[in-house]
Amino acid sequence: METQELHRFQIGSQYGTADNKCRSCVVIYDSSSSASAAVAAQIADLIRAKAQQGEQAVLGLATGSTPQGVYDELARLHREENLSFQNVVTFNLDEYWPMPPNALQSYHRFMAECLFCHVDVDPANVHIPDGTLPLEKVAAYCTEYERQIRAAGGIDLQILGIGRTGHIGFNEPGSPRNSRTRLITLDKVTRLDAADDFFGEWNVPRKAITMGVGTILDARQIILLAFGEQKTQIIQQAIEAEVTSAVAASFLQARPAVTFSLDQAAAGELKPVKTPWLCGSIVDSGQSWDQRTTKRAVIWLAEKLDKPILKLIEEEYNENGLQELLSARGSAYDLNIQVFKSLQKTITGWPGGKPGRLRRDGSVDVFPKRIVVFSPHPDDDVISMGGTLIRLCEQGHDVHVAYQTSGNIAVFDDEAARHVDFAAEFCRVFELSGNQESRRLERTMQLLASEK
Ligand code: GLP
Repeated sequence: METQELHRFQIGSQYGTADNKCRSCVVIYDSSSSASAAVAAQIADLIRAKAQQGEQAVLGLATGSTPQGVYDELARLHREENLSFQNVVTFNLDEYWPMPPNALQSYHRFMAECLFCHVDVDPANVHIPDGTLPLEKVAAYCTEYERQIRAAGGIDLQILGIGRTGHIGFNEPGSPRNSRTRLITLDKVTRLDAADDFFGEWNVPRKAITMGVGTILDARQIILLAFGEQKTQIIQQAIEAEVTSAVAASFLQARPAVTFSLDQAAAGELKPVKTPWLCGSIVDSGQSWDQRTTKRAVIWLAEKLDKPILKLIEEEYNENGLQELLSARGSAYDLNIQVFKSLQKTITGWPGGKPGRLRRDGSVDVFPKRIVVFSPHPDDDVISMGGTLIRLCEQGHDVHVAYQTSGNIAVFDDEAARHVDFAAEFCRVFELSGNQESRRLERTMQLLASEK
């Protein structure tokens, strides 16, 4: 598969840090699939190079939705390009505790289904923390896990995802730099994020066994993958904010041989992406002051100074890292008008067109129209274009909304049951319901109770 790398920079160099230490590196790809393919290729190179030297490749592996593309690609490389895993030893980062290995949410099951069943790895070389141990055996087990990693010669390449709390593995906020494999209590945010997998937050285990931050940092090479908008904020904190145990992933900043492999969405809040003009010359970094970058910069300046675009003055451009823009694109006056007009063009009071409007071919456009709005969820229409919907109706169009899902999967049964229960109790206390309502509520409760 073709991989397209859009942007690469070293942490430190773009941020004006004084020291010249080789720090971790950020690579931004055009999509998550191309990032996954590039990372899989790197893993394959390591496995083959080690095999040639008659050595084992020791991989640290992660779970979650993020690394799945890497595992798919590794399975393909095994199937189609003879990549053998016979010299591969693996150590997984974590497992929920307690957790039987065959449960739907078990990381043992995840790894088997996503990777191990599709390649020729020796099961004896696979290590995943055991979620079935009684509490009194966990501590000794964790010490043994660390010993096994050392005995294998240490981890050559560690793959990581990142949780919304900034955790790597399950190293929740507060995990020290030198922490080792241990039992940890999961953060509320992490349990909430896992709620879908467990059909409700209350079913998510409260604890997990995880490699420590120190265990992870011992790996010779580390790649952290993050994709999608839900990772934008935490990636910004992990890479650009201070190094702190409140965000375990921030410990990766201060270490060489770490790569953050991101898609464009996850990288969206990083300074070199969001405000590249604050990191030096745009032109020197291979970009140009095209229309898109110009528009972004002017809107950013107006928002930053909390001023209308048309009132921005040259000094403000100059003092906010936009000298190069002024030299490239002319005066502040011209720039302001140009960007203002391009924004103005995107706004119309007649979303369905004005009555009597001429089409390109000279014929008169239909008015009123029959309009279908596609809404993935039953609230997306109102949230994203409520005002437009009102306008369309007011202006006499025949408007229909096509909902693409009933939305029921977004509501857990126990939530629904709680509301039905409340409604029933409310009706009873205030003597509001007739027989019909009570029966309907009762039927709903029975339906929820009987559903699996
Ligand atoms: C869990 C795992 C982490 C993983 C994180 C993010 O918490 N223990 O190792 O990085 O989920 O998951 P996802 O990749 O699905 O966003």
